[in-house]
Amino acid sequence: MQILKKQLLTLGAESAIYIVEYWGMTLALKWRPRKPYIHNEIDKLLRTSRTSRECKMLTFVRTLGVPTPAVHSVDIRNHLILMDFIEGQQFKQLVNTSSKKRITTLCHEFGKLLGIMHMSDIVHGDPTTSNAVVDMQSKMWLVDFGLAEKNATIEMKGVDMHLLRRAYETTHWALQETMLESTMEGYVEISGDDAEAVLSRADEIRERGRYH
Ligand SMILES: Nc1ncnc2c1ncn2[C@@H]1O[C@H](COP(=O)(O)OP(=O)(O)OP(=O)(O)O)[C@@H](O)[C@H]1O
Ligand SMILES: [Mg+2]
Repeated sequence: MQILKKQLLTLGAESAIYIVEYWGMTLALKWRPRKPYIHNEIDKLLRTSRTSRECKMLTFVRTLGVPTPAVHSVDIRNHLILMDFIEGQQFKQLVNTSSKKRITTLCHEFGKLLGIMHMSDIVHGDPTTSNAVVDMQSKMWLVDFGLAEKNATIEMKGVDMHLLRRAYETTHWALQETMLESTMEGYVEISGDDAEAVLSRADEIRERGRYH
Protein backbone atom coordinates (compact mmCIF):
# COMPACT_ATOMS: atom_id res chain seq x y z
CA MET A 1 0.00 0.00 0.00
CA GLN A 2 1.31 3.42 -0.98
CA ILE A 3 0.55 5.45 2.13
CA LEU A 4 1.69 9.03 2.36
CA LYS A 5 1.03 10.25 5.88
CA LYS A 6 0.43 8.18 8.97
CA GLN A 7 -0.76 9.24 12.39
CA LEU A 8 -1.52 6.87 15.26
CA LEU A 9 -5.13 7.15 16.47
CA THR A 10 -5.30 4.33 19.04
CA LEU A 11 -3.05 1.53 20.15
CA GLY A 12 -4.98 -1.24 21.86
CA ALA A 13 -4.38 -4.77 23.00
CA GLU A 14 -5.45 -6.24 19.65
CA SER A 15 -4.61 -3.62 17.10
CA ALA A 16 -3.32 -0.21 16.15
CA ILE A 17 -5.47 2.25 14.22
CA TYR A 18 -3.72 4.85 12.09
CA ILE A 19 -5.24 7.81 10.29
CA VAL A 20 -3.67 7.81 6.84
CA GLU A 21 -3.67 9.85 3.65
CA TYR A 22 -4.29 7.63 0.66
CA TRP A 23 -5.13 8.80 -2.86
CA GLY A 24 -6.13 12.16 -1.44
CA MET A 25 -8.52 10.64 1.07
CA THR A 26 -8.28 10.45 4.84
CA LEU A 27 -8.73 6.82 5.80
CA ALA A 28 -8.27 4.54 8.80
CA LEU A 29 -5.71 1.74 8.69
CA LYS A 30 -6.18 -1.10 11.16
CA TRP A 31 -3.14 -3.23 11.84
CA ARG A 32 -3.03 -6.33 14.00
CA PRO A 33 0.52 -6.64 15.25
CA ARG A 34 2.20 -9.80 16.39
CA LYS A 35 1.62 -10.81 19.99
CA PRO A 36 4.97 -12.01 21.34
CA TYR A 37 3.39 -14.13 24.10
CA ILE A 38 1.38 -16.29 21.64
CA HIS A 39 2.96 -19.09 19.62
CA ASN A 40 3.99 -17.61 16.27
CA GLU A 41 1.93 -19.90 14.03
CA ILE A 42 -1.20 -19.64 16.18
CA ASP A 43 -0.78 -15.88 16.37
CA LYS A 44 -0.54 -15.67 12.57
CA LEU A 45 -3.66 -17.81 12.12
CA LEU A 46 -5.63 -15.67 14.59
CA ARG A 47 -4.54 -12.39 13.04
CA THR A 48 -5.31 -13.68 9.56
CA SER A 49 -8.74 -15.03 10.42
CA ARG A 50 -9.74 -11.93 12.38
CA THR A 51 -8.59 -9.62 9.60
CA SER A 52 -10.46 -11.62 7.00
CA ARG A 53 -13.58 -11.95 9.16
CA GLU A 54 -13.57 -8.25 9.96
CA CYS A 55 -13.45 -7.27 6.27
CA LYS A 56 -16.26 -9.60 5.33
CA MET A 57 -18.49 -8.64 8.23
CA LEU A 58 -17.92 -4.87 7.94
CA THR A 59 -19.05 -5.15 4.36
CA PHE A 60 -21.87 -7.61 4.96
CA VAL A 61 -23.63 -5.77 7.79
CA ARG A 62 -23.59 -2.57 5.73
CA THR A 63 -25.94 -4.27 3.32
CA LEU A 64 -28.36 -4.74 6.24
CA GLY A 65 -28.34 -1.02 6.97
CA VAL A 66 -25.86 -1.03 9.85
CA PRO A 67 -23.43 1.87 9.28
CA THR A 68 -19.84 0.59 9.14
CA PRO A 69 -16.71 2.07 7.56
CA ALA A 70 -16.40 1.00 3.92
CA VAL A 71 -13.41 -1.25 3.32
CA HIS A 72 -11.08 0.11 0.64
CA SER A 73 -8.35 -2.46 0.71
CA VAL A 74 -7.11 -5.45 2.66
CA ASP A 75 -3.65 -6.94 3.01
CA ILE A 76 -4.25 -10.32 4.60
CA ARG A 77 -0.56 -11.31 4.83
CA ASN A 78 0.29 -8.18 6.78
CA HIS A 79 -3.00 -8.13 8.71
CA LEU A 80 -4.03 -4.69 7.46
CA ILE A 81 -7.43 -3.21 6.64
CA LEU A 82 -7.80 0.15 4.97
CA MET A 83 -11.24 1.61 5.56
CA ASP A 84 -13.14 4.87 5.83
CA PHE A 85 -12.14 7.02 8.75
CA ILE A 86 -15.24 8.00 10.71
CA GLU A 87 -14.66 11.44 12.09
CA GLY A 88 -16.35 11.59 15.45
CA GLN A 89 -16.10 10.33 18.97
CA GLN A 90 -16.17 6.97 20.63
CA PHE A 91 -19.61 6.32 22.11
CA LYS A 92 -17.79 5.40 25.34
CA GLN A 93 -16.27 8.89 25.60
CA LEU A 94 -19.54 10.58 24.71
CA VAL A 95 -21.31 8.92 27.62
CA ASN A 96 -19.05 10.89 29.97
CA THR A 97 -19.82 14.25 28.42
CA SER A 98 -23.40 14.04 27.12
CA SER A 99 -26.80 14.78 28.60
CA LYS A 100 -28.91 11.89 29.81
CA LYS A 101 -31.32 12.51 26.93
CA ARG A 102 -28.56 12.21 24.33
CA ILE A 103 -27.18 9.08 25.97
CA THR A 104 -30.66 7.54 25.94
CA THR A 105 -31.07 8.33 22.24
CA LEU A 106 -27.67 6.84 21.41
CA CYS A 107 -28.33 3.70 23.45
CA HIS A 108 -31.64 3.25 21.68
CA GLU A 109 -29.79 3.42 18.37
CA PHE A 110 -27.12 0.98 19.60
CA GLY A 111 -29.87 -1.47 20.54
CA LYS A 112 -31.50 -1.07 17.12
CA LEU A 113 -28.24 -1.77 15.29
CA LEU A 114 -27.64 -4.93 17.34
CA GLY A 115 -31.25 -5.91 16.72
CA ILE A 116 -30.79 -5.53 12.96
CA MET A 117 -27.73 -7.77 13.04
CA HIS A 118 -29.34 -10.39 15.27
CA MET A 119 -32.42 -10.53 13.03
CA SER A 120 -30.04 -11.57 10.25
CA ASP A 121 -28.33 -14.07 12.55
CA ILE A 122 -25.14 -12.06 12.91
CA VAL A 123 -23.49 -11.42 16.26
CA HIS A 124 -20.97 -8.64 16.78
CA GLY A 125 -18.86 -10.53 19.29
CA ASP A 126 -17.66 -7.47 21.22
CA PRO A 127 -20.63 -5.12 21.57
CA THR A 128 -19.14 -2.48 23.85
CA THR A 129 -19.41 1.31 23.76
CA SER A 130 -15.77 1.44 22.55
CA ASN A 131 -16.84 -0.20 19.35
CA ALA A 132 -19.35 2.44 18.32
CA VAL A 133 -18.30 5.78 16.86
CA VAL A 134 -20.69 8.73 16.73
CA ASP A 135 -20.02 11.17 13.89
CA MET A 136 -20.58 14.94 13.67
CA GLN A 137 -24.19 14.41 12.56
CA SER A 138 -24.81 12.16 15.58
CA LYS A 139 -24.95 9.10 13.36
CA MET A 140 -23.72 5.92 15.02
CA TRP A 141 -21.25 3.64 13.24
CA LEU A 142 -20.14 0.21 14.41
CA VAL A 143 -16.53 -0.98 14.19
CA ASP A 144 -14.37 -3.90 15.35
CA PHE A 145 -15.92 -6.92 13.64
CA GLY A 146 -12.99 -9.32 14.10
CA LEU A 147 -15.07 -11.55 16.39
CA ALA A 148 -18.36 -11.24 14.51
CA GLU A 149 -20.12 -14.38 13.32
CA LYS A 150 -22.78 -15.43 10.85
CA ASN A 151 -25.44 -18.12 11.39
CA ALA A 152 -25.72 -17.11 15.01
CA THR A 153 -27.80 -19.24 17.38
CA ILE A 154 -29.95 -17.98 20.29
CA GLU A 155 -27.02 -18.84 22.58
CA MET A 156 -24.62 -16.67 20.55
CA LYS A 157 -27.08 -13.78 20.52
CA GLY A 158 -27.61 -14.25 24.26
CA VAL A 159 -23.84 -14.01 24.77
CA ASP A 160 -23.77 -10.79 22.70
CA MET A 161 -26.47 -9.23 24.91
CA HIS A 162 -24.77 -10.50 28.05
CA LEU A 163 -21.49 -8.92 26.96
CA LEU A 164 -23.28 -5.65 26.31
CA ARG A 165 -24.75 -5.67 29.80
CA ARG A 166 -21.34 -6.50 31.30
CA ALA A 167 -19.81 -3.61 29.37
CA TYR A 168 -22.41 -1.20 30.77
CA GLU A 169 -21.83 -2.54 34.28
CA THR A 170 -18.08 -2.22 34.16
CA THR A 171 -17.67 0.94 32.07
CA HIS A 172 -20.81 2.98 32.77
CA TRP A 173 -21.66 1.83 36.25
CA ALA A 174 -23.63 4.90 37.36
CA LEU A 175 -25.77 5.01 34.20
CA GLN A 176 -26.07 1.31 33.51
CA GLU A 177 -29.79 1.00 34.24
CA THR A 178 -30.90 3.90 32.05
CA MET A 179 -28.52 2.80 29.33
CA LEU A 180 -29.65 -0.80 29.43
CA GLU A 181 -33.31 0.15 29.37
CA SER A 182 -33.06 2.34 26.28
CA THR A 183 -30.78 -0.16 24.52
CA MET A 184 -33.33 -2.90 25.13
CA GLU A 185 -36.14 -0.67 23.84
CA GLY A 186 -34.25 -0.19 20.58
CA TYR A 187 -33.41 -3.90 20.41
CA VAL A 188 -37.02 -4.98 20.95
CA GLU A 189 -38.28 -2.39 18.47
CA ILE A 190 -36.37 -4.25 15.77
CA SER A 191 -36.52 -7.84 16.92
CA GLY A 192 -40.09 -7.90 18.26
CA ASP A 193 -41.14 -11.32 19.52
CA ASP A 194 -37.71 -12.80 18.77
CA ALA A 195 -36.19 -10.66 21.51
CA GLU A 196 -37.64 -12.62 24.39
CA ALA A 197 -35.74 -15.87 23.78
CA VAL A 198 -32.46 -13.98 23.35
CA LEU A 199 -32.91 -11.81 26.43
CA SER A 200 -33.92 -14.68 28.66
CA ARG A 201 -30.90 -16.61 27.38
CA ALA A 202 -28.74 -13.61 28.27
CA ASP A 203 -30.18 -13.78 31.81
CA GLU A 204 -29.41 -17.50 31.95
CA ILE A 205 -25.82 -16.89 30.83
CA ARG A 206 -25.47 -14.29 33.53
CA GLU A 207 -26.70 -16.73 36.18
CA ARG A 208 -24.35 -19.44 34.92
CA GLY A 209 -21.47 -17.01 35.31
CA ARG A 210 -22.48 -16.23 38.88
CA TYR A 211 -22.36 -19.76 40.18
CA HIS A 212 -19.44 -21.29 38.28
N1 LIG B 1 -12.76 3.34 10.78
C1 LIG B 1 -12.64 4.00 11.92
N2 LIG B 1 -12.91 5.32 11.98
C2 LIG B 1 -12.79 5.99 13.14
N3 LIG B 1 -12.38 5.45 14.30
C3 LIG B 1 -12.11 4.13 14.31
C4 LIG B 1 -12.22 3.34 13.13
N4 LIG B 1 -11.87 2.08 13.42
C5 LIG B 1 -11.57 2.07 14.73
N5 LIG B 1 -11.69 3.28 15.28
C6 LIG B 1 -11.42 3.67 16.67
O1 LIG B 1 -10.31 2.93 17.14
C7 LIG B 1 -10.68 2.12 18.26
C8 LIG B 1 -9.99 0.76 18.18
O2 LIG B 1 -10.41 0.11 17.01
P1 LIG B 1 -11.01 -1.35 17.07
O3 LIG B 1 -12.08 -1.39 18.08
O4 LIG B 1 -11.36 -1.74 15.69
O5 LIG B 1 -9.76 -2.17 17.52
P2 LIG B 1 -9.54 -3.11 18.78
O6 LIG B 1 -8.98 -4.35 18.27
O7 LIG B 1 -10.73 -3.14 19.65
O8 LIG B 1 -8.49 -2.43 19.63
P3 LIG B 1 -8.41 -2.64 21.20
O9 LIG B 1 -7.30 -3.55 21.38
O10 LIG B 1 -8.26 -1.23 21.67
O11 LIG B 1 -9.67 -3.26 21.72
C9 LIG B 1 -12.20 2.05 18.22
O12 LIG B 1 -12.72 1.90 19.51
C10 LIG B 1 -12.60 3.36 17.58
O13 LIG B 1 -12.68 4.37 18.57
MG1 LIG C 1 -12.51 -2.34 19.83
